[in-house]
Amino acid sequence: MTTSQHDTYADPTLHQPAPAVPGCVAIIMDGNGRWARAHGRPVADGHREGTRALRRTVEAAIDVGISSLVVYAFSTENWARPPHEVATLMEILSETIDRELPDLARQGVRTRFIGRRDRVPDWLREKMDELEQATAGLGTLELWIAFDYGGRTELVDAARRLIADGVAPDAVDEAAVAARLYAPDLPEVDLLVRTSGELRISNFLLWEAAYAELVFTETLWPDFDEDDLRQAIDEYARRGRRFGAR
Ligand code: IPE
Ligand code: IPE
Ligand code: MG
Repeated sequence: MTTSQHDTYADPTLHQPAPAVPGCVAIIMDGNGRWARAHGRPVADGHREGTRALRRTVEAAIDVGISSLVVYAFSTENWARPPHEVATLMEILSETIDRELPDLARQGVRTRFIGRRDRVPDWLREKMDELEQATAGLGTLELWIAFDYGGRTELVDAARRLIADGVAPDAVDEAAVAARLYAPDLPEVDLLVRTSGELRISNFLLWEAAYAELVFTETLWPDFDEDDLRQAIDEYARRGRRFGAR
């Protein structure tokens, strides 16, 4: 006997819900320092190990079928860290652009950066620009790396652009603001994951994640892998999203 779709829905034991994969996933990649401490290694090693987790996660995101992945790599507040750590984080981004991202480009990953561009060193900004240009035609996965990013600064910058564009107060609406964010084509975040057990947003995607489902995991970022991503997505799939409606 064949089972019609109707029968499948009628019998909960047969019902296989369609896989609910979030289109846009954002990750606050936290816990590198604690990982380093736990392994008796310098903090820089934690950050370097974190780039390997990023590589794994990008590949997992492709496998899972996510279309946009946004990762928080350096916040506007992270400049407050010791100068040596800040310098190391700049170097690590540069190394990652050289080592990991060309490979990912071969897999079709389009990489873009969101955040301020005026404070990173010139040599790094040039690399960031080059990578964006080199991967501009790709589309298996959209990867957005938030670097010198802060949600409040993004909104302040958008307000400045509204004024610079001469937009009249009456014409300022959500679309007008959204069009002036760092990346107007960055979709709304469906799922926001933070690693390392911290329960806060830390100034990430304040506008874009307004209705994101939040998932927090104890896993330290350098240990994050495909299983952790799948668990977060499973958790997301169990959520009821109402967007304020009934
Ligand atoms: C996240 O790891 C990376 C950055 C913020 C750049 P942390 O360095 O914040 O790690 P913890 O929170 O100290 O463990
Ligand atoms: C948030 O982590 C920023 C990044 C992951 C890049 P932090 O470790 O800087 O955040 P706080 O200080 O714990 O809020
Ligand atoms: Mg931290």
